[in-house]
Amino acid sequence: MIGNLSSNLRALIEAHGRPEREVYLDLENSGLIFEEALNELLKSYRESGYGHPSITHKPGWSSLELLLEAKENLLSFIKARDGEVVFTHSGTEANNLAIMGLAKATPNRRKIIISSIEHLSVKFPAERLQELGFRVMEIPVDDEGFVNLDYLSDQIDEEALMVSVAAINHEIGTVQDLRAIADVVRDKDPETIIHTDACDALGRTPLDFGKLEIDIASFSGHKIHAPKGVGALYVRDGIKLEPIIHGQLSSQSLWPGVENIPSIAGFSKAIEIFRENFDNYREKMKNLRDILIGGILSQIDDAFLNGPRGDRRAVDNVNVSFLGCEGEALTVELSLRGVYVSSGSACTSRTLEPSHVLLAIKRPYEIAHGSILMKTSPLHGEKDIEYALGQLVKAVERVRSIAPKGVV
Ligand SMILES: Cc1ncc(COP(=O)(O)O)c(C=O)c1O
Repeated sequence: MIGNLSSNLRALIEAHGRPEREVYLDLENSGLIFEEALNELLKSYRESGYGHPSITHKPGWSSLELLLEAKENLLSFIKARDGEVVFTHSGTEANNLAIMGLAKATPNRRKIIISSIEHLSVKFPAERLQELGFRVMEIPVDDEGFVNLDYLSDQIDEEALMVSVAAINHEIGTVQDLRAIADVVRDKDPETIIHTDACDALGRTPLDFGKLEIDIASFSGHKIHAPKGVGALYVRDGIKLEPIIHGQLSSQSLWPGVENIPSIAGFSKAIEIFRENFDNYREKMKNLRDILIGGILSQIDDAFLNGPRGDRRAVDNVNVSFLGCEGEALTVELSLRGVYVSSGSACTSRTLEPSHVLLAIKRPYEIAHGSILMKTSPLHGEKDIEYALGQLVKAVERVRSIAPKGVV
């Protein structure tokens, strides 16, 4: 079974030949690593981060030093004045810890409020809690993905355990007004905890947790060209969480198991790079985003942008739909041309169902079904984007030409 699959995959990979250029735009699902972050990871494995940070010997203290520096680095990047950082092994784990950990710590509050466009690593734990007797309310969003603040306000009462809204939506790039969300929640009930999934926001938009009244926030390393398999949860002082996994000794009581210091050190380096180049990187990602969006809309018929425009859209997000062009077929055609994108959200794309995000913003089925998601990065140049655009124009034409009539 595995043997067959492997040989099929090998044949698929070999069918690709040698494209003129390769452009990786699937930064939603996984990213390239900064060279400096990779060097930091290797250095940590070889020299300074192989010890267990809870053990009293030199390699242990050296790992602990790296761990504490990484926590400081993240806290300072998000301008948090108080609070703690817990490193996990992914953004998914950070979101699960936030939701399940809160529910375990405060079982007398039984209502969980999330937006209808949250990432599956927020949506699924909330649904799991629903099976365990909690009530889950989904806040509707408008056609650009902004949450309905009146609806949110109506849901807040002394039963409400938490509100979870992503700072930036991973699929359509909606930059939520976290200040307004926090004001609505605090106004109705200061005890309701506010969580934001900030995996897509770190390095893309200014975050100031010193000013924002956000209690908990999740982050993921690969979103900022750090190693994969590392995430973090910021928890404001005074917020009670319970661990959701149990076992091995760790310096972090909320996340047992030996800390992945080399990946954390790489994450910390990537944070440093994003912090030092924050304005330049944002400008660069935005410029490349606009070249790509502008080119698509002017050169391809029946192409539609999903999500907001201008400054209310994430600087890196390009989510477009092409009528009569199935998203999955387009990712394969583009892959053969050296351009790597995903169709909607990777998690949902495997089911070939349109993403719940596009359906929540009321995109018609045929538009939702023909969507692809791309993200620009500071590691891209204009030539990459021009190449991707040229290939996209040809790929859409080809997929449309072979699509059976009446099938999107
Ligand atoms: C908004 C958002 N939250 C959470 C995650 C999950 O992070 P990870 O891939 O590190 O598990 C992702 C995905 O990459 C994401 O886009």
